[in-house]
Amino acid sequence: MLKKLWNFLSRSRGKKDTVDDIESVMQAVDRERLPKHIAIIMDGNGRWAQRRGMPRTYGHKAGVESLREIVRACNELKIPVLTVYAFSTENWKRPREEVDALMDLLVEYVYKEIDELDRNKVQVRAIGRIHKLPEKCQQAVAFARERTKDNDGLILNLALNYGGRSELVDAVRSILQMTADKKISIKDIDEQLISSHLYTAGLPDPDLLIRPSGDFRISNFLLWQLAYTEFWYTDVMWPDFRKEDLLRAIYDYQNRERRFGGLKQK
Ligand code: FPP
Repeated sequence: MLKKLWNFLSRSRGKKDTVDDIESVMQAVDRERLPKHIAIIMDGNGRWAQRRGMPRTYGHKAGVESLREIVRACNELKIPVLTVYAFSTENWKRPREEVDALMDLLVEYVYKEIDELDRNKVQVRAIGRIHKLPEKCQQAVAFARERTKDNDGLILNLALNYGGRSELVDAVRSILQMTADKKISIKDIDEQLISSHLYTAGLPDPDLLIRPSGDFRISNFLLWQLAYTEFWYTDVMWPDFRKEDLLRAIYDYQNRERRFGGLKQK
């Protein structure tokens, strides 16, 4: 009962009306004010599987189904960028079988989905230390990037072997290299320059961060880019996350007031 009330309250936070069914949420979402960039921490796969008495990898497989649905939905809505956290720099600490299963799933996802992604004009990219992934994953990523590089639909950023801190380390190294090579001087270093050395260079910062499965952490995801992002969370586990949940998140986002450190617009 309490949980139901909590879910209801967190789902309807900031809403003018409650929109419970998918049709109402669809109608309530303003197509003119969609987020330009949505980031998702695809969390809860392991717990979802274990609650069903299944191995964690079963949850990751189910998580791929959610990813497929959310990519389709974002593309249909004409959201310009979707970034999904698929494997963090810390995920190597997991048991070998789970890491291997995740790498296999990535490869399977790319080769199974590429025709549909390409047909729907999705442009696949990857962010993270991709060169440290197993060879087969690097090949799959390179293949997807190359095949879809001219597409003008949704930009799907797969965060793989990604860590916000290592991204900043890489950016600092690359900027210092430029100063050492005398291409820039220290006074040229500003926020714009740092942004342009991140893996997400050229992309807008996320407007909306979605974290399913009830945790309230950033987990080393897009540390620089999330400075003014609206955070939306839900108890729904990632394998159960559907288009309806995405629309709820967007609707909620649209009813928030973003001030970026300034004051309310009169
Ligand atoms: C976090 O849930 C999820 C991951 C570490 C992996 C996410 C991967 C997928 C959804 C599928 C593979 C991705 C691609 C791009 C094909 P968790 O396992 O930490 O869940 P828990 O918190 O319940 O343990």
